[in-house]
Amino acid sequence: MYTSILTEVDGPLGILTLNKPERHNAFDEVLIAEITAGLRELEAHPQVRAVVLSSTGKSFCAGADLNWMKRAAGYSPEENLRDARNLATLLSTLNELSKPTVARVQGPAYGGGVGLVAACDIAIATFDAQFALTEVKLGILPAVISPYVIAAIGERYARRYMLTAERFSASEAYRIGLVHEIVPDEAGLDEAVGEVVDALLKNGPKAQGECKALIRVVSGQPIDEATIEETAQRITRVRASAEGKEGLTAFLEKRKPNWINS
Ligand code: COA
Repeated sequence: MYTSILTEVDGPLGILTLNKPERHNAFDEVLIAEITAGLRELEAHPQVRAVVLSSTGKSFCAGADLNWMKRAAGYSPEENLRDARNLATLLSTLNELSKPTVARVQGPAYGGGVGLVAACDIAIATFDAQFALTEVKLGILPAVISPYVIAAIGERYARRYMLTAERFSASEAYRIGLVHEIVPDEAGLDEAVGEVVDALLKNGPKAQGECKALIRVVSGQPIDEATIEETAQRITRVRASAEGKEGLTAFLEKRKPNWINS
């Protein structure tokens, strides 16, 4: 049983909720292990087609628990590294989940909290959510989150916000691409998340997993012969798959594909 997260399966939707509101959902070793396990549980769940990452309380996530960080710094070098790898594994598990992920951001997201948002496929936040990469303020580094944050906001804004540790607003997060949508309040958040989930559920589940892998492979690559060949190989394989055939046939027969129930 989990102590710091909640998982729920609601039809095709898996919801993973960070549930340490009294610590602003700052993650220590327990929360890191539980989020990783919860994500794996929802990844393996046969009914779940999309995953929403949410949290309880005032803050989405205050990043690393600074008591845990301080403890880890006193560990042996091997233990310190093992601990850091656990956080890196959490972020890569989230990033590479084959099912689409949506971050539901209802309040501040700092440090590793920004990493969680960046590692989700889609992010929606309330107007009053705030963001900051505060690590250098604490004399540490946004290291394990950096691949996801830089992929989301680009090197240019990463340089500014990682170096200044300034807080930035939800509208700035929207402008620089960290979040896709901002809404007035939590009711608006539920509505916007619901709409995006509805859109996700209309699409081929295997195609979505393939699409996520495609983006990871193609992103940042030069458009050279190797990349062009890679993309050709991928569409060749996917259009010949059962799901690809079903989707194309359903369109031509003017019916819904078999992954849409109603
Ligand atoms: N790690 C450990 N404890 C944290 C924490 C963190 N990342 N963030 C908040 N807390 C704790 C506070 O120390 C405080 O503990 P206390 O009640 O024992 O004093 C409690 O949570 C409430 O925090 P407080 O600052 O009083 O609440 P707030 O509503 O004014 O502000 C935050 C909430 C999240 C905006 C603020 O606590 C903050 O900026 N935290 C640091 C976030 C950060 O820099 N994270 C990146 C780490 S790499």
